[in-house]
Amino acid sequence: MAGGGLREDLLEQLEKVRSLVKAHGSPHREVYLDLENSGLVFEEALVALHEAYKIHGNPSITHRPGWRALEAILEAELGLMDLIGVDNGEVVFTHSGTEANNLAVMGLARASCGRRKIIVSQIEHLSVKFPAERLQEHGFKLVEIPVDEEGFIDLDYLAGQVDDDTLMVSVAAVNHEIGVIQDLRAIAEIVKDKSPGAIIHTDACDALGRIPLDLESAGVDIASFSGHKIFAPKGVGALYVKEGLKLEPILHGQLSSQRLWPGAENIPAIAGFARALELFRKNFDEYRSRMRRLRDMLIDGIFERVDDVVLNGPKGDMRAPDNVNMSFLYCEGEALTVELSLRGVYVSSGSACTSRTLEPSHVLLAIKRPYEVAHGSILMKVSPMHDEDDIKYVLEQVPEAVKRLRAISPRVVM
Ligand SMILES: Cc1ncc(COP(=O)(O)O)c(C=O)c1O
Repeated sequence: MAGGGLREDLLEQLEKVRSLVKAHGSPHREVYLDLENSGLVFEEALVALHEAYKIHGNPSITHRPGWRALEAILEAELGLMDLIGVDNGEVVFTHSGTEANNLAVMGLARASCGRRKIIVSQIEHLSVKFPAERLQEHGFKLVEIPVDEEGFIDLDYLAGQVDDDTLMVSVAAVNHEIGVIQDLRAIAEIVKDKSPGAIIHTDACDALGRIPLDLESAGVDIASFSGHKIFAPKGVGALYVKEGLKLEPILHGQLSSQRLWPGAENIPAIAGFARALELFRKNFDEYRSRMRRLRDMLIDGIFERVDDVVLNGPKGDMRAPDNVNMSFLYCEGEALTVELSLRGVYVSSGSACTSRTLEPSHVLLAIKRPYEVAHGSILMKVSPMHDEDDIKYVLEQVPEAVKRLRAISPRVVM
């Protein structure tokens, strides 16, 4: 085998990552709050995942193991329908929320008979924004709806844009970065009033289990979900498609129980998703009030202990119960994630895709945060698995980490 090239690069990278992990040692306590990018998993969902690995069948095949696999899919489908308030239509299981969003946007464009306008909010997740942008190369027109300084979309601007050329309007029910909850019912009313044939898509990955969803009565036609966002194992997403809606597949292949997403279904992850859905359905109010209590303890605690901090997104009931996004002035977000990681507190700066390029998040720029403020933002999410002691620990560590970074920040020295 020839040496050098990729192999050498990978070995070098592996060595670096190993030394980073080693340098961290074992913090005496760890609190994982980077739930935007990867989830904790409910113990019960893990048990369901393990059990389902013993189901060897493919749900399209007519034998006992095949029917066991189909049973797992149907249970998850019913569980999702219960939690999102729909009785009809189709649920398609993908392998992630990203795939579900791509299927929604691309699949609707492929099925479009003449309508060419796609409307999205300025703060959509990149898995909606990027496919919508790509469609411009195929003759579609993209319109972005602005948001105010808390992230609420401009409904008048939306009303002015919807017309009979509008194929779809896509607005996330809850924004993944700043937690703003949009009024889906008002959006759907405006859109359907202007153009009854326009389709309403919502990326509900961050809304599932966080806010009550009644998609049928809100007038939503198509909605995306991600398993790890509700503490199911990774490797499963879903798309709800209203009955009668025209959507073309974007993948083609053989044999599947699902027309819109061919290929072998991830049955163990789907079984874990079903269990997580059931837990959220049974404990919805308790989980929500627990998350809200921990969220407020974290936000209030940081304001009490640290100066020059800004909350990104709205306060109170119009903010998702799990979301804490704060900018620490005179601190660089990436540096803060590393400093906190050394202390066993795991957070992210902006969304994963954005932070990899070190560009400030498009969401924070859309709510008109100056560049330096957007750069100092930290995203933390709480879950029903966290408790007050976790938050107390985070509240001890954040002020220390910020103080250390500010002490070496050139802007403070100046
Ligand atoms: C609002 C939103 N949409 C879509 C996604 C993509 O989901 P996944 O990570 O399952 O691809 C995420 C991911 O975190 C998200 O927060």
